Amino acid sequence: MKKLNICIAGGGSTYTPGILAGLIKTKNKFPLKKLILYDNDEKWLEKMGKLAQIMMRDYYPSLEVIYTVEREKAFREIDFVFCQIRTGGLKMREKDEKTALRHGVIGQETCGPGGFSYGMRSIKDMIELVKEVRKYSKDAWFLNYTNPAAIVAVALEKEFPNDKRILNICDQPINLQLAYARMLDKDYQDLIVHYFGLNHFGWVTKVIDKKTNKDYTKKLKDLIKEKGFAPVDKEQRDPSCLVTYNAVQVMLKHDPTYLPNTYLQYYLLPKRSLATLDPNWTRANEVMAGRERRVFAECEEAIKNDSAENTTAVKIDLNKKNAHGDMIVEIAESIYNDTNKYYIVIVKNDNIISNFEKDAMVEVLCKLGKDGAKPYKVGKISTYYKALMQQQYAYEKLAVEAYFENSYLKALQALTLNRTVVDQELAKKILDSLIEINGSYWPELK
Ligand code: NAD
Ligand code: G6P
Ligand code: MN
Repeated sequence: MKKLNICIAGGGSTYTPGILAGLIKTKNKFPLKKLILYDNDEKWLEKMGKLAQIMMRDYYPSLEVIYTVEREKAFREIDFVFCQIRTGGLKMREKDEKTALRHGVIGQETCGPGGFSYGMRSIKDMIELVKEVRKYSKDAWFLNYTNPAAIVAVALEKEFPNDKRILNICDQPINLQLAYARMLDKDYQDLIVHYFGLNHFGWVTKVIDKKTNKDYTKKLKDLIKEKGFAPVDKEQRDPSCLVTYNAVQVMLKHDPTYLPNTYLQYYLLPKRSLATLDPNWTRANEVMAGRERRVFAECEEAIKNDSAENTTAVKIDLNKKNAHGDMIVEIAESIYNDTNKYYIVIVKNDNIISNFEKDAMVEVLCKLGKDGAKPYKVGKISTYYKALMQQQYAYEKLAVEAYFENSYLKALQALTLNRTVVDQELAKKILDSLIEINGSYWPELK
């Protein structure tokens, strides 16, 4: 078996330890020669790089681990890039969320004005990163988690239309699947979850048992309506996440047609969602005080003790499923070994949803193999879903065009179209505030 070289771009991310655990868990099926952690911030990178070296020394001794801020060193002769960068960091996420809330609308990482603001920051870095990767490794698979994945996917498709080895992914569908599996008392791998939508904007249409072919959709809906809905993964158990999962029950009781993604609450229940958000303590604050502090404290302790035994990555992620880390590793493994695992990922629509924009980047159930994602056809969607998706896709497309064309007008149109905003005057006020907080992170809009 050929041994692979992989690079984690945004290696300083607090999600890296979960990915390291995923790589250890799959080392027999997905054997690595070299792991490179790349980041543009030496401070985060050094801590995470040292943790990776300690952890792999003990759990994956054959693996060479390096960390670097040099792109050539990071991207030369690699087979996979796992990308998870955050332009502007969590500090800018905090500003995004608080700015929106100050204007009385949803303040969220990827949805509404927060997602717009973040998208306009991410595009430039993402394009640059892909170009650099292609300079040194033209055939590497580029698996991207970087948010807002919806906007990043549209932008990358526009800039690199012929690059078939870029795949944008989101861990929320697998998080939903884990929650369904627990409710049905099954393993998540026993389930096939049919899904359609845009990223953070979609619906589960059917949940099937892989072995028996039995349809569990109705049972699941009844269970959620009766008992509520709760996260499984440890990263999704903070108070604000529980509120988010709760919204699934509310939406389902109103409309039992499909099982909604948690993120739909921001668009379908904006008033309810807004009431749960605190303009002085947003999710970014929760993450900085929680996951970020914990993970870097664990890195420092591991470095001091020259042992990773006390880290969550070793204590929990190595023994249990880690939705985020395992997903990207399993997708890579499935591509490498052509194992055709089922995953819900983001792909170009073409004709998957037959009555929807061909160039949209949609999120659907796929099999992952050596040629990438093979999507299941969705067919025709009905008026309500089509209308919602069309409005949201128009927002995504205009946001990306605003970036490429430096267009203030398109940015304004995008925000006006977003269901969390709607009012044109409000959209303008928000846009002006976002321009102010983003400074040179954004292209200059004229
Ligand atoms: P984070 O800020 O803690 O980590 C991001 C890392 O990327 C930092 O170490 C930072 O220094 C680095 N970075 C920023 N810009 C860079 C650039 N241009 N080049 C190289 N490195 C750069 O953020 P996080 O909370 O760990 O999340 C990381 C990313 O993963 C975010 O984009 C987040 O939205 C995304 N994410 C996506 C999903 C999904 O479902 N798609 C799930 C979880 C996280
Ligand atoms: C889920 C979503 C991601 C998002 C993350 C936010 O995993 O799928 O797209 O980035 O939640 O998590 P956080 O803990 O940073 O709020
Ligand atoms: Mn996501």
